Amino acid sequence: MSFEGQRIWITGASSGIGAALAEAFAARGARLVLSGRRREALAEVAARVQRDALILPFEATDWAALPHAAARAGPVDMLVNNAGISQRSLAVDTRPEVYRALIETDLLAPVWLTQLVLPGMVERRAGHIVGISSVAGRVGTVLRTGYCAAKHGLIGYLDALRAEVEQAYGVRVTTVLPGSVRTQVAANALQADGSVRGDSDANIDAGMDPAECARRILNGIEEEEREIIVAEGGEAFAAGLRFTDPERLFDMLSKAGDQLAKEREKGGRPEPARVSQTLRN
Ligand SMILES: NC(=O)c1ccc[n+]([C@@H]2O[C@H](COP(=O)([O-])OP(=O)(O)OC[C@H]3O[C@@H](n4cnc5c(N)ncnc54)[C@H](OP(=O)(O)O)[C@@H]3O)[C@@H](O)[C@H]2O)c1
Repeated sequence: MSFEGQRIWITGASSGIGAALAEAFAARGARLVLSGRRREALAEVAARVQRDALILPFEATDWAALPHAAARAGPVDMLVNNAGISQRSLAVDTRPEVYRALIETDLLAPVWLTQLVLPGMVERRAGHIVGISSVAGRVGTVLRTGYCAAKHGLIGYLDALRAEVEQAYGVRVTTVLPGSVRTQVAANALQADGSVRGDSDANIDAGMDPAECARRILNGIEEEEREIIVAEGGEAFAAGLRFTDPERLFDMLSKAGDQLAKEREKGGRPEPARVSQTLRN
């Protein structure tokens, strides 16, 4: 398939995977609508990748703003639900409002945006919804109970939506499950009290280059894959094990949780172990 001339709306385009997707789609001739909260960061991305891209900043959980944003975006050929925040905190310590923020940002906002563009796509018998979930949307990863809940939920929503609209209306639905990608995701993650973590972690710093992640996502879309796993090594292995040998995976993950609990008892900040370490356990 060609992206030439396609109008593509990317949320979370001010940083990381979203900015890399903007660059990759622009290079393939798409016409972009770029969203995120930070207007200046979006303007910088636009200046770099497509000067006349439409910059459409909004807070994803401002429910009143979303219909206006969708109206300004106009009919789009593709919506890429990419904006999101992560979590680094143990469930036992985490305040309820942190769960609300994670589920609103990572699940309800993409669902609501999709609902806003969907009637037009159904009417036109064409369109494409892309959702950036995560390997953590399949594998219950320590320190991310709220994030996992939202990302698992997003996969469920997109799978069920695909069943309703793919054959019936020619609307495509693609779910993306990245492993660790080198972005601001860990630094922007919420902690137990709702504060922002502020610094990255080893897995993310050792993660895939965002441009490579974007390249694989575009390839997967071109190949008409409905689910694109963008992960390597232990993370790709864990995503497969969730179906082939879930008991073994749960044992490995429980050991990682046990180590974190011991750290917590000593009063330390819960630090995510490297994936390789978790899977060796
Ligand atoms: N990096 C990874 O290892 C990884 C792995 C799996 C999945 N993912 C997923 O990939 C997506 C992109 O994350 P990233 O890694 O590129 O992280 P990032 O560098 O922190 O970028 C997150 C993007 O989401 C936007 N955003 C966050 N909260 C928002 C809100 N309330 N309203 C509007 N926009 C909001 C941010 O824009 P502003 O700051 O301008 O608001 C930013 O553009 C997320 O859904 C994340 O869960 C990432």
